[in-house]
Amino acid sequence: MSQLFLAPMEGLADYVLRDVLTSTGGFDGCVSEFVRVTGSVLPRSAYERDTPEVLYGGHTPGGTPMVIQLLGSDPEWMALNAAQAASLSPHGIDLNFGCPAKVVNRHGGGAMLLAHPEQLNRIVSSVRAAVPAGIPVTAKMRLGVSDTSLAIDCATALAEGGAASLVVHARTRDHGYRPPAHWEWIARIDAAVDVPVVANGEVWTVADWERCRAVSGCADVMIGRGAVSDPFLALRIRGLMDPTPSGEEWSAVLGQLADYLTKLQLRVASRHEHGRVKMWLSYLKRTWPEAAELHAAIRRLHDPSEILEVIERAPAFNSLMPERHRATLVPLVPATPRRLTGCTVASAVQ
Ligand SMILES: Cc1cc2nc3c(=O)[nH]c(=O)nc-3n(C[C@H](O)[C@H](O)[C@H](O)COP(=O)(O)O)c2cc1C
Repeated sequence: MSQLFLAPMEGLADYVLRDVLTSTGGFDGCVSEFVRVTGSVLPRSAYERDTPEVLYGGHTPGGTPMVIQLLGSDPEWMALNAAQAASLSPHGIDLNFGCPAKVVNRHGGGAMLLAHPEQLNRIVSSVRAAVPAGIPVTAKMRLGVSDTSLAIDCATALAEGGAASLVVHARTRDHGYRPPAHWEWIARIDAAVDVPVVANGEVWTVADWERCRAVSGCADVMIGRGAVSDPFLALRIRGLMDPTPSGEEWSAVLGQLADYLTKLQLRVASRHEHGRVKMWLSYLKRTWPEAAELHAAIRRLHDPSEILEVIERAPAFNSLMPERHRATLVPLVPATPRRLTGCTVASAVQ
């Protein structure tokens, strides 16, 4: 059976959105936003705050396994931090070699490491050596910095360093997010390494998923923005919902937004996070035109409870949601003002 993973999305897929999307169903695993490693070992409390799944056996409240992603370029600090993160028993440690953010790239991290396969190998090897054998170490890469000339060397270096599997986002750093994703390159990488490869990039619909698998030759796919634009995409791919989104589903989406906001309110710092729900709405516009109206209606609101009120007044919410889709998440560790990772929302887009 092929697997589907929810992609890491810093500044967007925080643990509340990971909870909402994985509870909707269809995902076999998810990855945290990246945790940036510089010259220190982050305390356990930092992980408990940003990846609170570790307080619940490494699962989202819906029961989906969660992997912690680290981003950094120094093998020793990465190893020490990976050991710390592993002590919290996530389902794996993933290493980010795709971040195009200037603040990260300036320090030689993220996608810049794709110019140095030997350094990729050193990082993975030292992380692998520091993490207990039962916890997989995986890596997520792009195809290169400016071109694909080192794509195979990078993938080989990661696999030989001990990565249990690779996620390949089929674009270079310089490609940014410009379509298309070069799925044919994933097939080349898959043929060159002897570890499982997961295809990633530009899967927005069931048809994209089918084509991505056909072109890449990979059974397993990781989905990022497509899942935020259509939270039912994983269920559609599984054949558990209609393959094409419909207007009638908007009320269920409103229920998810209400769920998201309700859970956000459980966090002390939730008032700083209204931007995330607006960002989610801007992705939802791609699938449901109603999202644009709602986005306009809440544009000036900052308080999640006020945004929630607007949603609760929406006719679609009331007509088709007789029972409020209330939060099931138990209150988690209160969040302190953000955050331990290094990128801003805008710069973190990879
Ligand atoms: C807002 C945003 C934040 C992202 N943050 C991360 C991250 O923290 N770590 C990472 O490896 N990739 C990150 N990515 C890249 C995604 O994981 C994924 O590789 C990319 O979006 C392509 O997949 P998609 O076309 O399915 O969205 C981010 C992407 C977006 C849009």
